[in-house]
Amino acid sequence: MLKDMINTLNTAIIVAAGSGSRLASQIPKQFLKLNGREILSYSVQTFLEHPEIHKVIIVTSAVYLRSVTSSYPECQVVPGGPTRQDSVSNGLSACSKNTQFVLVHDAARPLIPAYIIDACLQKLTTYDGVAPAITPTDSMVQITSQGFDNLDRDTLRIVQTPQCFKLNILRQAHATGKLDTDEMGLVKQTHASAKLGFVPGAPETMKITHSDDLKIAEIFLGKMEVKQHQ
Ligand code: CTP
Ligand code: MG
Repeated sequence: MLKDMINTLNTAIIVAAGSGSRLASQIPKQFLKLNGREILSYSVQTFLEHPEIHKVIIVTSAVYLRSVTSSYPECQVVPGGPTRQDSVSNGLSACSKNTQFVLVHDAARPLIPAYIIDACLQKLTTYDGVAPAITPTDSMVQITSQGFDNLDRDTLRIVQTPQCFKLNILRQAHATGKLDTDEMGLVKQTHASAKLGFVPGAPETMKITHSDDLKIAEIFLGKMEVKQHQ
């Protein structure tokens, strides 16, 4: 079936309106190159090619609106806001009313395997919100006024994106005006009865934050390309 003939849509919102201050390059990290291709283009392509994703919205800052619109003609491009949550909110406003599931993804995570999108969509059939997460491999401690407490690593998760919800739940969560660092946190805070869960994430879905992360992502990318050609 043609993607635009379907009357309930699954929409990916790719947030790409940050300035990348921790990476400190002249242009925001989502527009830097990874193996010769713009970082933003990797996740855009993965979502555009996914058979169960019907629309891709890119949220970017005002100065990049025109260039992103011309580079990604298959996507809707909307302006971002001062915080990530504001940018997500603008993306949600651009979703059409027949959107069923919305998948919020960081442009700074270029390497998102399609099987993770599959797993999120599958779990969303019985959950209100789902995100990929991985277990930390290092020892984890919490700093206290006395020193530190050791945490049980097996009970901890590093939460990645896409963070995926039924559109109305995420819209309602944003409409409360409450703040949180990500969508899972916001929905947990605003919808006490929401059924939220995780699927196994992947190390390659790391967020590019500091300049060394670019080199690590290139290694992951090389491994993914080798696997694809096997
Ligand atoms: N983001 C956004 N709008 C903002 C801030 C962040 O769309 N106002 C996006 C970023 O472009 C990125 C994702 O949210 O894809 C995750 O944010 P982060 O890694 O913190 O990126 P930056 O905010 O750009 O980086 P930094 O915090 O180092 O400035
Ligand atoms: Mg940031």
